[in-house]
Amino acid sequence: MQSTAVEIEFVERKRYPVAPQPLSHDFSAATIGAVRRFHQTFRQYQPTPLVALPGLAAELGVAGVWVKDESRRFDLNSFKVLGGSYAIARYLGDVLGIKPSELSFTRLNEPAARRALGTVTFVTATDGNHGRAVAWSARELGHRAVVFMPRGTVAARVANIEKEGAEVHVTDGNYDETIRTARAYMERHGGVIVQDTAWEGYRDIPLWIMQGYAVVMHEAVEQAAAAGVEFPSHAFLQAGVGSFAGGAAGLLASHYGERRPRTSVIEPTEAACYYASVAAGDGEPHDIGGEMPSIMAGLACGEPNRLAWPILRDHADLYFRVADSIAASGMRALAAPRAADPALVAGESAAAAVGLVLALEHDRSYAAVRGTLGLGTDSQLLIVSTEGDTDPDHYRRVIDERLYPAAWEAARR
Ligand SMILES: Cc1ncc(COP(=O)(O)O)c(C=O)c1O
Repeated sequence: MQSTAVEIEFVERKRYPVAPQPLSHDFSAATIGAVRRFHQTFRQYQPTPLVALPGLAAELGVAGVWVKDESRRFDLNSFKVLGGSYAIARYLGDVLGIKPSELSFTRLNEPAARRALGTVTFVTATDGNHGRAVAWSARELGHRAVVFMPRGTVAARVANIEKEGAEVHVTDGNYDETIRTARAYMERHGGVIVQDTAWEGYRDIPLWIMQGYAVVMHEAVEQAAAAGVEFPSHAFLQAGVGSFAGGAAGLLASHYGERRPRTSVIEPTEAACYYASVAAGDGEPHDIGGEMPSIMAGLACGEPNRLAWPILRDHADLYFRVADSIAASGMRALAAPRAADPALVAGESAAAAVGLVLALEHDRSYAAVRGTLGLGTDSQLLIVSTEGDTDPDHYRRVIDERLYPAAWEAARR
């Protein structure tokens, strides 16, 4: 394991004793393209923009920085709807006997389908974005949602889910404990649990969620190629339970094969379960418990999704754990454009990759990390800004009051 300063630590895949296994599930461009065709049946569907930031690239001394802006997804301010909507549709399609390739928003909303299904209650646990996505999807398809949230959830995130017509309960537990509360509710009251992590006997829905999330990368590789970047050199994937990163890494590995980008998984220091699992080096996922007080609420999960773990273990290269200051500095950099770059609104869980590469550039104590990552003048960086300002008050304070300064930012003031 390598360690530099408390803001950034990393462990490398190549130190890992187990040879990479082939992908355990299908994230091929053909399969994910079919998932995307389902998303296209929603009137709100548009690919989110892949934004070029040449000013930031010049500052970093790399050839290109490409940021996929998921704040623009379906007016929902994060990518999460791609997973929840597809999982709910697959579930309903199976009940109705509709083939996955024939699923569409219209088909699931036909009067005969609605009569046959009645009102289904979808139950989930969330730190915000996933619950909003499930509530939105349930409402759009004429069903009901009951959503559990961990203690400390901010009011704005609760309100966004209630706005979609869902019943919301804030629990006493952390994210992983809240999942157990949601399961217990479902066992008592019935309904269908739509969770973004797998457990014994529960794998289909989490897989469909991951395949739904992989549409982000399906769009991104197409957009990058159209912009002349056939092979991005680096990809950065932030992880909570790892369903997003697992789906994205699966698509990258399937699509690019041996020429896949050098892939980094990024987690908050307090919730770095992939970092800990790779560092343990025994091939197994390792859970982290207790308080996870990171500002990166979407990433504050301590238990790796068992479906995502083997994908990220074997198809990524570097595992970072970063302090809140790294995420906050990335939020500020995206809000205050370099040169002619457009400004982007990136929330706490969205900006760690930009904060990371900026710290590697501007803080000399990270020179060795930058070397290990292999950034150079030919590098093309693919980054996903996974949410907008999902906690608008906190977002404004991070930008205006410069909360959580990174060491390199503080040194410049
Ligand atoms: C904005 C944002 N980015 C990334 C993630 C991480 O996704 P996962 O939990 O699948 O790792 C989340 C999860 O809620 C999120 O809300």
